[in-house]
Amino acid sequence: MATTTITEVPVSTFDMAGIYKPWEVDGKFYGDGREVALLEYIYNHPELDQMRGNPQKVLGAMDSFARSVTGLINVGQTKGAVVRSIIAQRKPKVILELGGYCGYSAIMFSNAIREVGGVKYFSVEKSPLFAAVASSLIDLAGLRDVVRVVVGTGAEGTHRLHDEGALPHPVDMAFFDHFKPAYTADLKLCERLGLVGKGTVLVGDNMIVPGNPLYLDWVRSSVAEKREKDKVAEEKGNPNLIYSSRSIPSWEPSGQEDAMEITECLGIEA
Ligand SMILES: C[S@@+](CC[C@H](N)C(=O)[O-])C[C@H]1O[C@@H](n2cnc3c(N)ncnc32)[C@H](O)[C@@H]1O
Repeated sequence: MATTTITEVPVSTFDMAGIYKPWEVDGKFYGDGREVALLEYIYNHPELDQMRGNPQKVLGAMDSFARSVTGLINVGQTKGAVVRSIIAQRKPKVILELGGYCGYSAIMFSNAIREVGGVKYFSVEKSPLFAAVASSLIDLAGLRDVVRVVVGTGAEGTHRLHDEGALPHPVDMAFFDHFKPAYTADLKLCERLGLVGKGTVLVGDNMIVPGNPLYLDWVRSSVAEKREKDKVAEEKGNPNLIYSSRSIPSWEPSGQEDAMEITECLGIEA
């Protein structure tokens, strides 16, 4: 794992030709049957055989579903390219993802780490149904040996993986894309467990849509500021971790402007 800072991140432009259908259908953004419909769409697809062992084709079919049937709340191609560029530069061996949904980001990013010598992508997902959809599509894409899907909340999954010794300390990269109010508590849990250390890259999605001021406040604070905050915080982290953090503007696949927060841990202050 290289420890140089991330220098090149692609400037995002949104391609309207790839826009997803609106997420909201009758007041629901997900969990209204669309995830099972996605699975049926893919397994009835005329090009199913070409998808076997081909992550790009599986992602393409997921994109086609979201463009023509119902929008999906996945990271999409534009923000996905930002994360893939970070993977290409940092060459992480192991990534921990919180919020796996139907496996889109797990397929895209696990394939990206495999291309640079990475070995394991842990995807924690609260919904057993979404985790089952993800597992099936990950298997179809030929990534069963690289991705492990874990059913549970971010905190439960992280604890379980830590307790069984599955995760390196620190992890090379963590991708936060689950329940937005849980980002800060789950990051602090990772810090307490020793999963964040020199060289760890944290990627926090959805910093504008819907936004996450508490998370930004923690990752952008100095060690001295975090030590003060930690004294009165209910959820304790490790304030001694030195972070360098910046916002990368990008786009949701629905066409909304958004940003990801990229945070590098530069070391630990004594
Ligand atoms: C935006 S989606 C993730 C998209 C996925 N990363 C992708 O790009 O394909 C958010 C997911 O987080 C899951 N989720 C919600 N609360 C969670 C929690 N506390 N822990 C883990 N997953 C959670 C939801 O069920 C949903 O599948």
